Amino acid sequence: DQYDVVVVGSVNADLVVGVDRRPAPGETVLGSDLATHPGGKGANQAVAAARLGGRVGIVGRIGDDGHGALLRGALAGAGVDLAHLAVTPGPTGVALITVGPDGDNSIIVSPGANARLTPDDVAAARDMIAAAAVVTFQLEVPMPAIEAAARAAASAGARVVLNLSPTAPVPAEVLALCDPLVVNEHEAAWLLGGPGEPERMARALLRSGPRSAVITLGADGVVVADAEATATIPSPKVEAVDTTGAGDAFTAALCLRLARGDALPDAARYATRVGAAAVRKPGAQTSYPTPGDLPD
Ligand code: RIB
Ligand code: NA
Repeated sequence: DQYDVVVVGSVNADLVVGVDRRPAPGETVLGSDLATHPGGKGANQAVAAARLGGRVGIVGRIGDDGHGALLRGALAGAGVDLAHLAVTPGPTGVALITVGPDGDNSIIVSPGANARLTPDDVAAARDMIAAAAVVTFQLEVPMPAIEAAARAAASAGARVVLNLSPTAPVPAEVLALCDPLVVNEHEAAWLLGGPGEPERMARALLRSGPRSAVITLGADGVVVADAEATATIPSPKVEAVDTTGAGDAFTAALCLRLARGDALPDAARYATRVGAAAVRKPGAQTSYPTPGDLPD
């Protein structure tokens, strides 16, 4: 394959303010200076996989504004193939992010150009998708584009990985292609209609259709489940500075290792080290490691 990972997904500018606590409705609080970082779950995954040495392409849309230029620069700097990063007149996607004292984040996404990604864009990128070992999606771009990409990937024999974030209904046909479906605990509970013990939830997710499932548990590691086995894999212990985009780094690393032929538990073990590295520094892409930066 020409690409280890092709990402079909969102490209956002992250506007980040640190806060001691978040305002209640009608309330005003003061925060830190504003930081503007390259982000978006799709672009984050692309940059993370490329920084780890992957051959990566992205299918997405940016606007014709300064944020679009920032994102293009970040993706190009990491070595991501931008042949199918299209430009839409108007704003690039923006994420309004507050980071709390524990490195926890709250995010509102304004999709901007991401909302204009269509099945035609996916059709234009058909050759790139067909040349990928793994094709991966998140849910910050319209479902018709994701459905088209999942079908194109499957018919070309590429492995499909979906990070179901933010939560949205996914057609059963797409879910059935996921190998794995990647969710955090909240997303898993949303899918299953309530919380539960993580390994049980992972097996319940499997019964809902995907070929394999991964639930990320933050500092508590990850659960992986496929037809053969269910296992919990711990995360390296690190000091959390900013967890924004750590899940994207995890998923990207998982995709890369799967592309290189790792079994799911081995890929997940490596990916927890990448996710842990990403929480140690501010921002999403700005915090992503090279192989030399990984904790043990
Ligand atoms: O997963 C983190 C990302 O979510 C941020 O970079 C932000 O852009 C939103 O897409
Ligand atoms: Na980070």
